[in-house]
Amino acid sequence: MIELRNVQKSFDNDSTFAVVDSSFSVERGELLGLIGESGCGKTTTLKMINRLEEPSHGSIYIDNQNVLERNPEELRRNIGYVFQGIGLFPHYSIRENVAAVPTLLDWNAEHIEARCREILDLVGLPIDDFGDRRPSQLSGGQQQRVGVARALAAEPDVVLMDEPFGALDPITRAELQEEFKRIQRELALTVIMVTHDMIEALLMADRIAVMKKGEILQIGTPRELINSPAHEYVKEIVEMPKRRADNLEKLMHP
Ligand SMILES: Nc1ncnc2c1ncn2[C@@H]1O[C@H](COP(=O)(O)OP(=O)(O)O)[C@@H](O)[C@H]1O
Ligand SMILES: [Mg+2]
Repeated sequence: MIELRNVQKSFDNDSTFAVVDSSFSVERGELLGLIGESGCGKTTTLKMINRLEEPSHGSIYIDNQNVLERNPEELRRNIGYVFQGIGLFPHYSIRENVAAVPTLLDWNAEHIEARCREILDLVGLPIDDFGDRRPSQLSGGQQQRVGVARALAAEPDVVLMDEPFGALDPITRAELQEEFKRIQRELALTVIMVTHDMIEALLMADRIAVMKKGEILQIGTPRELINSPAHEYVKEIVEMPKRRADNLEKLMHP
């Protein structure tokens, strides 16, 4: 469904690579977690898939079609994107935010209204209560839900999410993670989700790609990474949640 072949990225006047020789694929209906510390190249990887950035080398295919041969605007309308830090249009109402891509796609008004109603219901924000508000009149968690609704509004096959739950308190975060996983399964969405939270990756992803300094160190199911980490770094980060749980256990039952 999505395939990266030997993708590299260096930015202008920079000799170092933000992404180093990255190759992986994501199957239809699969959720791939892309994890690594800040600055390791996660956002850059995501942006090359919908051509917000162009690779310096290599190629990217969606449904066997080279994205570099597609019109960037048209490509982006077919890919849902949840931006790092929410990124709603502040002067648009919630309804207008969700309707943004369907409007660009020239859906008729009735179809757009029906879809807004359906998708806002799906994320738990009934349009009659929330449709006319501005983003600033919503809580962080509600804004994040709108970000997800906006990304799904035009029924994309592929959804790219950049730390979609990063701005949330732990309780809202856990709630939205579970909800999104349910929606993703139900709609069989193909998703790449960037995160720096290993618990989030372990709980939500079918497979996890671990990145360090632009390089993908290992890619596998949560169980594969736990049972046979191929690098010390992978071992360290997959075991982090367990280590913390053990410390907590000691604190609670000394
Ligand atoms: N537009 C840009 N111009 C120059 N360097 C960039 C640009 N965007 C990202 N970088 C650099 O590329 C590297 C990877 O960044 P990014 O993909 O945003 O990391 P992550 O999302 O994993 O935190 C970083 O060193 C960052 O400074
Ligand atoms: Mg980032």
